[in-house]
Amino acid sequence: MKTLRESFDNSKYLSVKQDSYFDAYDKVLNRFVGKPVTVVEVGVLNGGSLFMWRDYFGENANIIGVEFNPSAKKWEEHGFRIFTGDQASEEFWDNFFKEVGPVDILIDDGGHTNHQQIVTVQKAVHHIRDGGLLIVEDTHASYMKSFGNPSPYSFIAFAKSIIDRIHGRYTGNTRGTKPPARQIHSVEFFESMTVFSIDRRKTKMSEIVRNGGISSNAVDYRFKKNAAERLSEKVESSKGLVRNIYKKLLKREMRRQNSSLKKYFTNIDV
Ligand SMILES: C[S@@+](CC[C@H](N)C(=O)[O-])C[C@H]1O[C@@H](n2cnc3c(N)ncnc32)[C@H](O)[C@@H]1O
Repeated sequence: MKTLRESFDNSKYLSVKQDSYFDAYDKVLNRFVGKPVTVVEVGVLNGGSLFMWRDYFGENANIIGVEFNPSAKKWEEHGFRIFTGDQASEEFWDNFFKEVGPVDILIDDGGHTNHQQIVTVQKAVHHIRDGGLLIVEDTHASYMKSFGNPSPYSFIAFAKSIIDRIHGRYTGNTRGTKPPARQIHSVEFFESMTVFSIDRRKTKMSEIVRNGGISSNAVDYRFKKNAAERLSEKVESSKGLVRNIYKKLLKREMRRQNSSLKKYFTNIDV
């Protein structure tokens, strides 16, 4: 199968991408090749990526460009639909999706500010079909001073908050987590690129299931050979107030263990 790098090199018009993107794109986009998908790219500039996407996805794909600079309208002569407007405007997206309807893939290669990236994800997520993708390029901007970062409101901080929301779907996490993610099934992070997989069919609150197999009553060794082991045994064997005291002690012990992990965060080698 054709690689995105081949389509990039085949494009008659200029496109600029990070070389690390091609492997990531092939990994997540491969299954859409040859299908009648609607693909939106924010940021048209010299038009080269529009031709790249058409070449990669094939003639059945509907490629749409979004660009602030009205000169991009000229690409309509080549069969692309072009919408001009500001990706940071919620109103722009409301009008856009009213006209275009649901899409399969949206790629944000626009202005890369926190505001532009976050508004684009927040508005587009409701209009991506189940099984589709929302991809944000150049997320290294979240680490650049010229974009006002680092900031608690950077795009990557926003993406991390979606990790919390995904875990909010776990039945036991109803207290202390953010509201669960309802559109985003999973998130993949690549260098300078974040990929959200949209699938509402898979975002219900999870349930614990058992396969009905035979239990050999094996002992869970999670706390084996540490202080938590004794405390967890006490929690299991006691009742009422005493049990609550042991639970508190166990929590304190777990916090003590967590604080010993600091070295793995300050001297990361992964
Ligand atoms: C990095 S370039 C796009 C490059 C193109 N996708 C490629 O691969 O060659 C970014 C484009 O986003 C456009 N842009 C910047 N801010 C924007 C905004 N707020 N809304 C829409 N487009 C914007 C710029 O005018 C510029 O053409």
